[in-house]
Amino acid sequence: EKADIGVTGLATMGRNLARNFAHHGYVVAVHNRTEERTRQLMDDHAGEGAFLPSGSVEEFVASLNRPRKAIIMVKAGAPTDAVIEELAAYMEPGDMIIDGGNANYEDTRRREAALKERGLHFVGTGISGGEEGALNGPSIMPGGAAEAYKTLGPLLEDIAAKVDGTPCCVHVGPDGAGHFVKMVHNGIEYSDMQLIAESYDLLRQALGLSPAELAEIFREWNRGELESYLIEITAEVLGHVDAATGRPFVDVVVDQAEQKGTGRWTVQSALDLGVPVTGIAEAVFSRALSGHPDQRAAARGLAGPDATAKPEAGVHADLVEDVRRALYASKIVAYAQGFDQMAEASKEYGWDIDLGAMATIWRGGCIIRARFLDRIRAAYDADRKLPTLLVDPTFASALSEAQDAWRRVVATAATIGVPTPGFSSALAYYDGLRRDRLPAALVQGLRDFFGAHTYRRVDREGSFHTDWSADRTEHSA
Ligand code: 6PG
Repeated sequence: EKADIGVTGLATMGRNLARNFAHHGYVVAVHNRTEERTRQLMDDHAGEGAFLPSGSVEEFVASLNRPRKAIIMVKAGAPTDAVIEELAAYMEPGDMIIDGGNANYEDTRRREAALKERGLHFVGTGISGGEEGALNGPSIMPGGAAEAYKTLGPLLEDIAAKVDGTPCCVHVGPDGAGHFVKMVHNGIEYSDMQLIAESYDLLRQALGLSPAELAEIFREWNRGELESYLIEITAEVLGHVDAATGRPFVDVVVDQAEQKGTGRWTVQSALDLGVPVTGIAEAVFSRALSGHPDQRAAARGLAGPDATAKPEAGVHADLVEDVRRALYASKIVAYAQGFDQMAEASKEYGWDIDLGAMATIWRGGCIIRARFLDRIRAAYDADRKLPTLLVDPTFASALSEAQDAWRRVVATAATIGVPTPGFSSALAYYDGLRRDRLPAALVQGLRDFFGAHTYRRVDREGSFHTDWSADRTEHSA
């Protein structure tokens, strides 16, 4: 008997994905560079389903049914290239290599093109949901050729999370589309976490609430429109007490946020595409700021606001509700920006990404799963060509209801000296977008003044230059 699918790279994610396939009745070929991991999987989980262990890549490929489907779950970058080469050497035209890691979409485009020349399919696939999701149902974002999805898709849809019976898996688009969308998912994950962190920090600093009290507030928030996995686990983390010291866990963790790169890639790509993903960018930069302890130590003595600038007693409940609204409004902005980025990349690369479908497959399984995504899906269902999520009637009215609170929160934060780059930049984006006239006109004037870069006029077609250094007459450029 041969395997329906294979997984090579049996660290936590790979192992759990293999078990998920086995739980769904598939025969799963398993392989790992060092055989110990393969043995471990067989020792611990062989009874859960049909696994075919292999000691070598050649044996692993030979154990697969044609067209062969081999999923790679190894570190992004050079290790992935190495495994692709090894697999491809034993594969035949029509076979598929599926990369389930957090690869950079440009690598995926390159690999897909190279393997296509050899008659092989390369399916760069975003997989979200961590260890738990991999085992019990992740959100899956496969790219690659539609033809490959025809045979591969049903297996992936089987093991994916389901929401209202709909699998959280859809063919995103050709070549790197799947990994691109996963990258933006992670960028949004960064901004979600940043906004949550700002909410926690502001309420703690302004009102002197304890982590345990804040855990309760997040638990409460999770019963409303903010309901999501990240809010749910925020309550867990804030409520956790360190066993060794008896202190709140959050107070014994070093306050320097790390990153593996997907958030940074999102911002790099957004800069190239010209899409303002300010929420994601501020989240990435906030992590970077936290990671400079020397600068932070040196700056600790800089002047801050008068300590009496704290909000007055009695504002407690109001500020909590204001922050909840600011969080929701800023979250709408962050998602709107992420969806804009997917739309722009889709145009740039000819991917034809269905944005509503992305919201649909993010409703379950992934880290940013949230009730809110149903609303995004509905927004794109109602208008596929929505210029920005902010103008969808549901979101527009949510923003309108939240905006006063949002402004108070940003003002309070600035007054008491608590940094809220996520809230503030989201509000600035909102105000920028809805502005009738922007000061970009002045920027254009300055560019023309020092560099003869020209400008367009509101009342006539064409480009113009003013002769700033002489008589200031205007010429058609
Ligand atoms: C997911 C997560 C997953 C992972 C990130 C974390 O969707 O399951 O996003 O991909 O947790 O790698 O990224 P950072 O280490 O950069 O925070």
